[in-house]
Amino acid sequence: MGTWNTPQRIWLTGATSGIGKALAQRLMAEGHRVVLSARRQDKLAALCKGFDNAAVLPLDISDRDAVQAAGKRIEAELGGLDLALFNAGTCEYLDVRAFDVALVERVLTPNLNGTLYCVEAALPLLRAARREGRPARLAVTSSASAYMALPRAEAYGASKAAVSYFMEALRLDLSPETIGVSVIHPGFVDTPLTAQNDFPMPMQVSVDQAADAILKGLYHGRKDIHFPKRFTLIVKLLGILPPALRFAVGRRLVRDPQQEDAA
Ligand SMILES: NC(=O)c1ccc[n+]([C@@H]2O[C@H](COP(=O)([O-])OP(=O)(O)OC[C@H]3O[C@@H](n4cnc5c(N)ncnc54)[C@H](OP(=O)(O)O)[C@@H]3O)[C@@H](O)[C@H]2O)c1
Repeated sequence: MGTWNTPQRIWLTGATSGIGKALAQRLMAEGHRVVLSARRQDKLAALCKGFDNAAVLPLDISDRDAVQAAGKRIEAELGGLDLALFNAGTCEYLDVRAFDVALVERVLTPNLNGTLYCVEAALPLLRAARREGRPARLAVTSSASAYMALPRAEAYGASKAAVSYFMEALRLDLSPETIGVSVIHPGFVDTPLTAQNDFPMPMQVSVDQAADAILKGLYHGRKDIHFPKRFTLIVKLLGILPPALRFAVGRRLVRDPQQEDAA
């Protein structure tokens, strides 16, 4: 699998739980200079106990000023970033019978706006790395749900599809500066976020498998890091079907309202 043989300066968000926690543990153990962010300060502190190569920067990614201030602190302490790895995110599913824009905003605000605040803060730091002659990479966790519209995923899927599109466009615009952009599209991963799901999650993988796939993809500079491939390739294929066929497949996943009421 391959890993960086020199310490990288890395800012990771969403480090207190699930995929981000597994990534943090791996990156710290590999000796990188890691800045870990999430809202729960106690969990961040416990995570990096015993690692003098890790620092904590607690923040809510939905707070643009806090994210900007975090970027300034990283600039003061590390000078620049070799890898900005923005993984923080949340998920809630919509019940269309009780259409609730507040729910949609609770998902879109951190997943889209929050991620973009992080990108805004990280770009000067990635540019600083390039000025030092070091490779620089921006990576964001989207989701396989970005490949295909799924029932009840209006808010989550839209937030991730928007992030994927944004990053693909940004990859084009950053190419003259040779700043790489990776978009991570996981299938189902066993984390506290998916533990709340009350539907089957085919081909679910562990957080360690997810961290393996992500770090391997980042090391090799992959543009689209998706896993497990046996799942994501099917979703990608479904996503490019003609709309009528895609609807026929997606329709089979819609819940029967009468069964919902009975449950
Ligand atoms: N698990 C899956 O199957 C799956 C599949 C596709 C994509 N993803 C994506 O992968 C990423 C990680 O998901 P996960 O499953 O590992 O979820 P998780 O266990 O719930 O972890 C989410 C992380 O994001 C942080 N976070 C959430 N909202 C935040 C905010 N407003 N500000 C700062 N940090 C925030 C949380 O920390 P605090 O609560 O301490 O702030 C936590 O560290 C998410 O972007 C998710 O959408 C997951």
